[in-house]
Amino acid sequence: MTQAIVSTLLRSGQREPNEISASNRTEKKLQSFAGETGIHAVANNETLIENSDIVFLAVKPQDLYATLEPIASTFDDHHIVVSLIAGVSLHDLQNLLPNTKNHLRVIANAASRIGESVVGVALSDGVEPLWSSVEEILSPIGKVVLVDDGDQIEALLVATSSGVGFVFELMNYWQEWLEERGFSPREAQDLTTHTFLGASRLAQNQPEHSYEELIRKVASAKGVTAAGLASIRELEIERALRISFEKASLRDKELGASAKSID
Ligand SMILES: NC(=O)c1ccc[n+]([C@@H]2O[C@H](COP(=O)([O-])OP(=O)(O)OC[C@H]3O[C@@H](n4cnc5c(N)ncnc54)[C@H](OP(=O)(O)O)[C@@H]3O)[C@@H](O)[C@H]2O)c1
Repeated sequence: MTQAIVSTLLRSGQREPNEISASNRTEKKLQSFAGETGIHAVANNETLIENSDIVFLAVKPQDLYATLEPIASTFDDHHIVVSLIAGVSLHDLQNLLPNTKNHLRVIANAASRIGESVVGVALSDGVEPLWSSVEEILSPIGKVVLVDDGDQIEALLVATSSGVGFVFELMNYWQEWLEERGFSPREAQDLTTHTFLGASRLAQNQPEHSYEELIRKVASAKGVTAAGLASIRELEIERALRISFEKASLRDKELGASAKSID
C-alpha cells in the first residue's frame, strides 16, 4: 500500500523524492524501493519519526501494537499521523499514540497505484482546519471523500477497499464463462475488463442517472439482458453479496481488535 501511494505521489509531482522517507521491517525491500524511487531509506522507525512531520502508518493491523509500543514516546504534538490500517479507529490511535492529537484515518484501495482509488478520510477533533491540505496531498491517489470514523469508514473498508477484490472475483466468473465458450484466457480476460470498464465509464459519464435507470436503458422488455437480470434477481445474488459484505465487516472488527493488543 505504501509503495502504491508513494509511487503515485511522486509520479503526480505532488511530492519530490527528497521530501519522503520510509522505514521497513525488512531492510532489503526498503532499499530496493528507495533505489527505484529516490526516497530516503531510514534505518529505524524512531529516527524516521524524529525527522518527519507527517507520519503514515501502514503495517498490518496485527503488527501495529508491536510497532508503536516501543516508539510511542517519540511522537509529539507537531506530528500528523495518517493511519492506513484497517479496523483501527481514531479513538484507538489516540490511545496508542497519546502524545499527539493530530490523527487521520485513511481507507484507500489497490487502485492507489494508478490514481483511481476511493480515498475515505476521517479526521480527529481539531484536525478539521487541515482538511484542504489533506485533500490536496491525497488527491493524486484518487477520489478523496471526508467520512465519519464510524459506520461510514467501516463501510468504505468493505465496499470500496475490499470491494476491489470482490469486483475481481466477479470478473473472474465472466472470464471463465467466456473461456468455456472458446475464447483464450487472454482474450476472455481482455473482453471482461473492457465490459466492466465500459459499464463504469458509462455510469461515470451520466451521474444524473441512477443505476436502476441505467439498467432500464440497457435492458429492453423481454430481451436478452432482461432475461439474465430476472435470473440474477431470482437467485438472490444481492442477498449473497450482502452476506459476504457483512462477513468482511466482521473480519475488519476482528483485525481491529488484534491491533489493540499483542494477545
Ligand atoms: N493492500 C490494500 O489494498 C489495503 C487496502 C486498505 C487498507 N490496507 C491497510 O494497509 C496496511 C498495509 O497493508 P499492505 O497490504 O500494504 O501490507 P504489507 O504489504 O504487508 O505491508 C506492511 C509493511 O509493514 C512492514 N512492517 C511490519 N512491521 C513493521 C515494523 N515494526 N516496522 C517497520 N515496518 C514494518 C512490513 O515489512 P516486511 O517487509 O518485513 O513485511 C511490510 O512491508 C494494512 O494495515 C491494511 O489493513 C491495505
